Amino acid sequence: MPTRRDLLVGAPALGVAVLGAASLANSAIAFAADTKPADTKTSEAKAAAAPTGPFTLAALPFADTDLVPYISQNTLSFHYGKHHAKYVSKLNELYVGNEAMGTTPEAVAKAAYGDKDHTPLYNNAAQAWNHTFLWNSMKKNGGGMPTTGKLADALKAAFTDADGFKKAFRDTATSQFGSGWAWLVNNAGKLSCVKTANADSPLWTGAGTPILTLDVWEHAYYLDYQDKRSDYVNAFLDHLANWDFAEKNFV
Ligand SMILES: [Fe+2]
Repeated sequence: MPTRRDLLVGAPALGVAVLGAASLANSAIAFAADTKPADTKTSEAKAAAAPTGPFTLAALPFADTDLVPYISQNTLSFHYGKHHAKYVSKLNELYVGNEAMGTTPEAVAKAAYGDKDHTPLYNNAAQAWNHTFLWNSMKKNGGGMPTTGKLADALKAAFTDADGFKKAFRDTATSQFGSGWAWLVNNAGKLSCVKTANADSPLWTGAGTPILTLDVWEHAYYLDYQDKRSDYVNAFLDHLANWDFAEKNFV
């Protein structure tokens, strides 16, 4: 069973990983620091997914059955075991000769953002980071909205109530044309919902500090929901959103 350190640092050769320690030190993003390690039942999917370094695929912070029936094992096996793993593998390939751009996916994505000479490197570094953030944005028996605490107060100030937040997030997620992401972001204590296209993240576009995210690429939901993206978004909001993770990101 992986330890907390395994989740954060998985590449002893260069000391870098999808969740790099340097990244955590320089960012408000909590990531998997205090989430429980994946259940060993997921070992088959993880074994099939393991890219070789320097960047590694962080273990899922839940068992691959934990999100059922809202996200199936089949979807997770493709999304995590194929898509996320491929982003990390491609990042490793494209990183060769570009080591000066950073030692974490987050740093590489930030350095390569907007650089037309490094678009593939940017896309894969960004997607490696985005997906790790995604897995931590979900948990078994999640959803709803916090009712007490600093984040709850900020949510109430921005969206009035749970229905207001759900509408704002759902409208953001369903209005993203084509592939992309929906995010809850923080700007100096003010929360808002924003969308990004393809591999972009608010962390490097400047739209705010990510608090939670949902992947709205079709590979994230099509096996379970086909064209009904709104049903997938509702399932996330009602049953999966990880507010413990969100609290850690809201600093
Ligand atoms: Fe994805």
